Amino acid sequence: MSEDATASSPSCLSLAELCAEVESQFQERFGQAPQWIVAAPGRVNLIGEHTDYNGGFVLPAAIDRYVVIAASPSDEETARLVGADVGEEVVLHVRGSMEPGQVTWASYLQGVVAGFAARGCYASGFNALVRSTVPLGSGLSSSAALEVATATLLEAMLECELDPVEKALLCQQAEHKFAGVPCGIMDQFSSVLCQQDTLMLLDCRSQSVELVPLDDTDVTILIANSNVKHELTGGEYARRRAECEAAAKMLGVRSLRDATFDQVEVVRTALGSTYGRRVRHVISEIARTLDTVAAIRDSRWQDVGRLMYASHESLRDDYEVSCDELNLLVDIAQQLGETEGVFGSRMTGGGFGGCTVSLVKTSSTDSVAASIIERYFQRTGIQPTLFTTRPARGAHRIK
Ligand code: GLA
Repeated sequence: MSEDATASSPSCLSLAELCAEVESQFQERFGQAPQWIVAAPGRVNLIGEHTDYNGGFVLPAAIDRYVVIAASPSDEETARLVGADVGEEVVLHVRGSMEPGQVTWASYLQGVVAGFAARGCYASGFNALVRSTVPLGSGLSSSAALEVATATLLEAMLECELDPVEKALLCQQAEHKFAGVPCGIMDQFSSVLCQQDTLMLLDCRSQSVELVPLDDTDVTILIANSNVKHELTGGEYARRRAECEAAAKMLGVRSLRDATFDQVEVVRTALGSTYGRRVRHVISEIARTLDTVAAIRDSRWQDVGRLMYASHESLRDDYEVSCDELNLLVDIAQQLGETEGVFGSRMTGGGFGGCTVSLVKTSSTDSVAASIIERYFQRTGIQPTLFTTRPARGAHRIK
């Protein structure tokens, strides 16, 4: 699908175009060329949802939508940040006490600056201009992209390259402390470590990565944004995490990664229905993720699709993090089915709105997208936003 195929699929700047625009906006605002330009991508998770904080496996790819930051040193003792998409300017402390305040887009940057400072790496004053083509709050990790872009900028600025795992963990901590979201490690690892044309199988316990090629040009990743966001997200996410931790305790395991269905049988009554279903999701999702990797390696796309639908059902019924709009998008995709070019579809990211991810036959992408847009609009009155992506390159310095 060409990115400007329909009114609901607005064309998106390429990374090169975005960088060029950011560079000239920086020049206009600060009267000089930026010394550094960095980029960090959002991600889409193909399968392995709500498993990262349970020590399980996830299988994301970076998407070719980026946060780009241009910056130069200044004579001030603070950082002046221009959020060009939101038309806001914010001043951040780069030294002294950096305590979390009210959460805004600048909190993610502040959290990363604080993380570097905690390691003894103090930034001097700088001017920066930030733009993003990662849809905000849609389950595609716009916040992780912002954190990782900031970390990449500080690496360039301070001439200190962090170990990639340390960098991802520093960004995760920024999100915990400065945005108050107890997220797992998937999003920040994806933005740092993903590579072009590959999915990243991440073992969230050992934090080791295996790259799984997804370079078959006959298969395309299609992302559908429901364009709804139910405000439950923050609280429900933390609650799911707490439920998993409590269930692991009852099962006598370090995390649900170690739980088995046999163990669940033994404590079934004590676990009760809700915990029982949460655990069933996590155990089965970890297995599905590994099965998906095997199927992708053999190009068994029907099997991949079956696993994606099963993942969605489990998130909908057992983990209860889906919503009507996401269910509808997946149902429409499933009704189109393989004859119309859809292998599989599921919600992606934290849930309660945001996006679905589908695997489709490349030659059918336009017609699949058009049908989804039409049927979703008919049923909800909401225009969804659809776009395709190839697995993209992780964070890097441009200038
Ligand atoms: C959010 C979190 C991730 C992960 C997903 C669900 O994106 O930031 O760490 O838990 O939800 O898989």
